Amino acid sequence: MAGASSSSYVLILCSFLFVSSAIAQTSFRPRALILPVTKDPSTLQYLAQINQRTPLVPVSVTLDLGGQFLWVDCEQGYVSSTYRPARCRSAQCSLARATGCGECFSPPRPGCNNNTCSLLPDNTVTRTATSGELASDVVSIQSTDGRNPGRNVSVSQFLFVCGSTFLLQGLASGVKGMAGLGRTRIALPSQFAADFSFDRKFAVCLSSSTTARGVVIFGDGPYRFLPNIDASTNLIYTPLIINPVSTASAYSSGEPSAEYFIGVRSIKINEKDVPINTTLLSIDSEGNGGTKISSVNPYTVLESSIYNAVINAFVSELSNVTRVTPVAPFGACFSSRNIGSTRVGPAVPNIDLVLQSESVYWRIFGANSMVQVNNDVLCLGFVDGGVNPTTSIVIGGHQIEDNLLQFDLATSRLGFSSSLLFRQTTCANFNFTSNA
Ligand SMILES: *[C@@H]1O[C@H](CO)[C@@H](O)[C@H](O)[C@H]1NC(C)=O
Ligand SMILES: *[C@@H]1O[C@H](CO)[C@@H](O)[C@H](O)[C@H]1NC(C)=O
Ligand SMILES: *[C@@H]1O[C@H](CO)[C@@H](O)[C@H](O)[C@H]1NC(C)=O
Ligand SMILES: *[C@@H]1O[C@H](CO)[C@@H](O)[C@H](O)[C@H]1NC(C)=O
Ligand SMILES: *[C@@H]1O[C@H](CO)[C@@H](O)[C@H](O)[C@H]1NC(C)=O
Repeated sequence: MAGASSSSYVLILCSFLFVSSAIAQTSFRPRALILPVTKDPSTLQYLAQINQRTPLVPVSVTLDLGGQFLWVDCEQGYVSSTYRPARCRSAQCSLARATGCGECFSPPRPGCNNNTCSLLPDNTVTRTATSGELASDVVSIQSTDGRNPGRNVSVSQFLFVCGSTFLLQGLASGVKGMAGLGRTRIALPSQFAADFSFDRKFAVCLSSSTTARGVVIFGDGPYRFLPNIDASTNLIYTPLIINPVSTASAYSSGEPSAEYFIGVRSIKINEKDVPINTTLLSIDSEGNGGTKISSVNPYTVLESSIYNAVINAFVSELSNVTRVTPVAPFGACFSSRNIGSTRVGPAVPNIDLVLQSESVYWRIFGANSMVQVNNDVLCLGFVDGGVNPTTSIVIGGHQIEDNLLQFDLATSRLGFSSSLLFRQTTCANFNFTSNA
């Protein structure tokens, strides 16, 4: 009697546990998501793996901070039972601002369906674009509590665009597309924020190492790096500026740029003003000029007159150090024997990008300004963008490594940490050991 009643009690308890864990599984709402990022040593591109399709496969993609959306090659090797093209005039097409309606005159396959809307997938490394079908498929990504990766979560209808095999030219070996983190509604940050109802915020922390991973975190902080440093605190904030004219390789008129622009007002080296033509620092009515941040340029690119002024000022501030023959693509190189080292890299003059007021600046220290090209030579890691480039200053990968950048799309604001080396951590210090 007593035995029977206790075993039915056990049975009830078990089914209760089963039911409650099934509910927890389906109602689990991550507060943030995490995407590990590697740096490809030959192209210097930052790469991530997106787990997509049914069955799930890891798809290697080049990270494009200002990119409009995720695009992948659908021409070769795209196999999935959950691929769905976006039908013309559907809510998906309108969210993506894809107004056209297309037909395809080959046998149907992912990327080739009738009555679908299309967009222009863009290889922003080679600046080549084509037309591709808007579609959705399953994407799975790891959640995080801001400290470790947690359980994987999936989005059943993640929007992306089908690219072509030829569009992969110029991307790192094995890469099958690009992951756009730009300002559109269908770029990764906005889609994840909408799918999991968290803030439209994300952080990028790129590692300077080709062997240790950096990270993109979708959602708000904390963003903890070993040894327990929350890099979302002590950020400096500056407004993000919308360039009203698209900077993509191909676009329809009236489209704003998906890229992240900030308002640099002047440049200082060793706290002295560098004489530059300030007209180049603002964005004109055709969308030219201004300053943007890019993950597809390995080094900062400056319009020629700005480049020459920066090189001259830097060289004169470092006149006590032997200048050596420049090593391409750089213009100012120095013997590293005469340069001391500090916690934040080689002991060279600081470069400040002065923002909305004199007291708000992005300070670039030696670790982010200098590139070690060989044992004896350090070069200033800026390159000449020629005369009349579309954008006057493109802050590139080397200058943002080991800095945490938080983009807040709702308030159109960038938070930046400057060098994390000051806080005795790096972007490679996220603890990737899962605690799921
Ligand atoms: C699309 O429709 C056209 C006829 O309008 C047909 O020739 C073609 O095969 C169809 N393509 C696909 C991919 O179904
Ligand atoms: C979760 O995703 C990660 C990387 O995206 C993968 O390595 C891991 O195997 C996945 N875990 C499970 C339980 O599916
Ligand atoms: C400054 O740059 C603008 C835009 O390129 C140009 O029109 C102007 O002539 C330049 N001014 C000087 C003094 O070089
Ligand atoms: C050269 O000048 C820099 C910056 O002013 C200083 O940090 C460095 O110690 C000097 N180096 C030598 C060899 O005097
Ligand atoms: C990384 O996280 C794991 C899982 O929480 C933990 O066991 C480990 O101690 C952490 N590593 C360090 C170096 O703190």
